[in-house]
Amino acid sequence: MRKKIIAGNWKMNKTPLEGKAFATDMAVRCDVPDVDVVFCVPFVMLCPVSGATKPTSVALGVQNMHFEDAGAYTGEISSPMLAHFGVKYVIIGHSERRAYFNETDETVNKKAIKALSSGLIPIVCCGESLAQREQGVTMEHIRMQVKLALAGISADDAAKVVIAYEPIWAIGTGKTATTDQAEEVCAGIRKVLAEIYNEETANQIRIQYGGSVTASNAADLFAQPNIDGALVGGASLTDDFEKIVKYNQ
Ligand code: 13P
Repeated sequence: MRKKIIAGNWKMNKTPLEGKAFATDMAVRCDVPDVDVVFCVPFVMLCPVSGATKPTSVALGVQNMHFEDAGAYTGEISSPMLAHFGVKYVIIGHSERRAYFNETDETVNKKAIKALSSGLIPIVCCGESLAQREQGVTMEHIRMQVKLALAGISADDAAKVVIAYEPIWAIGTGKTATTDQAEEVCAGIRKVLAEIYNEETANQIRIQYGGSVTASNAADLFAQPNIDGALVGGASLTDDFEKIVKYNQ
């Protein structure tokens, strides 16, 4: 049985003081034993939010990192810097980073490898555009993204990875993929993982759905056999996040 993992991607929202106040309240409300809960916060909030999550089971995550430990990379943040704050998860290859910040399949792979060798768990994002879905090439695109992201990663390491399936057309649009659409692709991803590794490893890897997840659609999505949680954007900044985490109550 894979433990569900529900991560909030705060994106570029809240000031550090707002983030601290929200996290202090929400971490206590999301302190549940049966789900892994993660707050993926902007870097400048790591200090105040780590203080808020520490007394709870909520884990700390970030939304990006560089694949080198140090060097002339103006404006970047490395894994040894993150370790200082007790960061456990790092989102890699979000479609917004691919679209606006030149993230490529190659940098996604380098970052995933670096995260794993630094003891961080990468949440590797994949997802098709509306044009790709309409042309019927969704699974070809996802297969390529997943294979390239995991290139050179051993089965033991891959078992720790979280994959987030986020159809680009469903992000921030209020258009959720139907549970059938989400399950179909997540099941397809698990097949790709079994091809790359083996059934056992594929069955260990947690696959999240992301894209307009709310308190009203979470339980249906999580009831699907291949959906092991969610990567939540907008709703992770509101009271709804607690309801998503407590979907089974
Ligand atoms: P929304 O939940 O706002 O659609 O965002 C999804 C997302 O991009 C999470 O990473």
